[in-house]
Amino acid sequence: MSREDLYPEIPIELGYASEDLSNAELNTKDTRTFNTPSRASITHHMAANNSSPLLVPIGSNFWNIRGDFKIVKLLNVGTHMSVARLSTGKFLIIDGAPTLNNPTLVKELNELTSNGENIEAIIHTHPFHTGSIVTLSNLYPNAAVYGCPRHLKMFPDLKWTGDLSEPTNLARWQPEVDLRIPTGTEFFAPSEHNHFSTIWAYHRDSKTIHVDDTLGYAQTVRFPLSMFLSPGLSFHPMLSRGGIQPRAEAPNEFKTFIQTVMQDWDFDNIATAHMGVMIGNGKRELAALLERTQGELDRLTKKFSKK
Ligand SMILES: [Fe+2]
Repeated sequence: MSREDLYPEIPIELGYASEDLSNAELNTKDTRTFNTPSRASITHHMAANNSSPLLVPIGSNFWNIRGDFKIVKLLNVGTHMSVARLSTGKFLIIDGAPTLNNPTLVKELNELTSNGENIEAIIHTHPFHTGSIVTLSNLYPNAAVYGCPRHLKMFPDLKWTGDLSEPTNLARWQPEVDLRIPTGTEFFAPSEHNHFSTIWAYHRDSKTIHVDDTLGYAQTVRFPLSMFLSPGLSFHPMLSRGGIQPRAEAPNEFKTFIQTVMQDWDFDNIATAHMGVMIGNGKRELAALLERTQGELDRLTKKFSKK
């Protein structure tokens, strides 16, 4: 059975299930601590054991936090959030993860940010990554908070500062943090199971891209995940199932987005929600992925041209 054949049968978040889960539904009981791994081993550590409760430095002034996210209570594909320190000394928190229920992590976040006083803003980049939005705002109620249009509709009582997808907000932290919505993708009106599109965040100082589901990276994949996931960098499987808008021009627009990112952003690292963080070689691997995906993009162009 091929990887593609398996997707329809597994209600995996990577393709089909929702992440609109309460924290109570997630495995947040892990309070283990570990020493910060060396740069060379971060990827393996995260990919093989994506349950780190701690801030993990990824380059200069940037930290990534791994959390558990289990599909059908068995397959741990992990999830993440990141913290960027700006040149002003203030912090930007990118996304929330169920690890926020771990007191060890909260203690570290508080120490880093002076009990949250130095958190300038919290930004939620993925329309369907919603399980920790309220938790994070409750922890740091004085921080400005920006979300995707779906978030604002889903949590109308939360004190939102703004819609992150608006151009002024996407540009708010430039040039230190550049935020972009992939062109050609279904970001504003995706179906409930289409998690492909998200706002990409580039942190210049650490040469790191933080991206949720559009990209996934795993250095190693163990059974049973190995039945349907391959090691390496990959696009979310919804790319050809609604991730790209059904217009003849859209596949090429998405390709151009990737090419422009590679041209504009000097990045080495790619932090993905599922399953881990690629340390080094990020640009080369993204270029290789785009090349491997050219046939699929061509097929989509052909398909959409017939409509
Ligand atoms: Fe996801």
